[in-house]
Amino acid sequence: MQSTETALQYFKDHQQEYLSQYLELLRIPSVSTAPENKNDVLRACEFLAAWLRNTGMERVEVFPTPIHPIIFAEKKSNAAGAKTLLIYGHYDVQPPDPLEEWITPPFEPTFRGENLYARGASDMKGQVMASLTALDSVLRTSDLPLNIKFILEGEEEIGSPSLDSFIESHKEMLSCDMVLNPDSGMVAADSPTIVYGLRGLVYFELRIDGPKADLHSGLWGGNVANPAIVLSEVIAKLHNPDGSIAVPGFYDKVQPLTDEEKARIASVRTSEAAFLKITGAPRLFGESGFTHLERQGARPTLDVNGLYSGFIGEGAKTIIPAYAKAKISCRLVPDQDPEEIYNLLQKYIASLVPNTVHATIFKHSAGPAYLANDAPGIENLSAALSETWNRPVSLKREGGSIPVATTMQTALGVKSLLTGFGLPDDAIHSPNEKQNMAVWEKGVQALIRFFLSFAD
Ligand code: BES
Ligand code: MN
Repeated sequence: MQSTETALQYFKDHQQEYLSQYLELLRIPSVSTAPENKNDVLRACEFLAAWLRNTGMERVEVFPTPIHPIIFAEKKSNAAGAKTLLIYGHYDVQPPDPLEEWITPPFEPTFRGENLYARGASDMKGQVMASLTALDSVLRTSDLPLNIKFILEGEEEIGSPSLDSFIESHKEMLSCDMVLNPDSGMVAADSPTIVYGLRGLVYFELRIDGPKADLHSGLWGGNVANPAIVLSEVIAKLHNPDGSIAVPGFYDKVQPLTDEEKARIASVRTSEAAFLKITGAPRLFGESGFTHLERQGARPTLDVNGLYSGFIGEGAKTIIPAYAKAKISCRLVPDQDPEEIYNLLQKYIASLVPNTVHATIFKHSAGPAYLANDAPGIENLSAALSETWNRPVSLKREGGSIPVATTMQTALGVKSLLTGFGLPDDAIHSPNEKQNMAVWEKGVQALIRFFLSFAD
């Protein structure tokens, strides 16, 4: 108790310094998908490695990978029988475009009201810094009877291509009793949240090639198939009119929702009106027969993430495009197998493509869904959150994907504590991403309480 008050006070007294560190990290454009930002991703990595050394981690190692490095850090406790907590984070961010939509530049963090605006402010530099800040406040004020390990990656936003094999080949180094993964978010500012379910993902690209080059549409229109039209027709056949997915076999392994699970999902009580407000869509649309919260976390989807073909500049140009491309992804639920779903998609799409064009398809990434409401440490985290907010903890089945949770469960045998202090309207992956700083401050306090709850 005493040590908790001391650590909370330390955080309060040093909040400005912690904040300036957070801002410094946000100024680094660590966009993992952009080759031109490779050195910035490395800078973010080095910034955090230095932070970890400074906070007293005894071993801090940066492991190169084919793309962006992985940081491992460790501090052992002197206490006999101390448990080990592994904290996961990612220091990469999504691309900031469309740039013209940002009110202030994405890598110039700016306060407006309670919010701090920058790419990564919420997803997830804010959550990494909340964890580091809480730990630093604890380590500077008491002997924490907990072994701490960190694994921080720079490839999460591109599907963590190096992480699985790294975890597989460093099981001993990463062995732990608990995993804290603060890469998810909250239901609302007054509802501290633990996420117990995540959707999986399979992401691929479909390319339709027609003529060997763009053609004059007057000379050749009417005699060759138009790849943009063929692609549109294929995409149109991926869904049924009721919003369900038309790929044969797609739903075969989907676990039906029990009454108990339906009630748990409904307990979050975020309204359809809130969904409308956050998205700005004129109306909600989704698979019939399910609530908006069920569709968000417990039903699979298929979305087009990007479409490209022909002349997309200002003005008009009369051509038949040589090719058309689509980026397509599916969110998956238990027990859909990503590889099996990808095979079904390939087969179905092949059956839709006429022989007047060539189709090629390639996979970017794939990972299964996650479901577990019994991660070790959940009582401690739950108590720390509800004490800080003075509110009960919401259990949420979330629609986003954090594939590492499944990887760690399989490789290390430990389920993850999924939480975070981002809000549904933080605009993650969108222009004007922000982090609510009042919530962030509470998040740090909750993590201080969580860490020290192992002291008794
Ligand atoms: N932090 C998000 C996922 C998230 C956000 C989970 C909010 C729960 C609540 C993460 O960084 C992310 O965006 N993941 C990708 C994964 C993909 C690239 C494999 C996603 O969900 O699109
Ligand atoms: Mn994230």
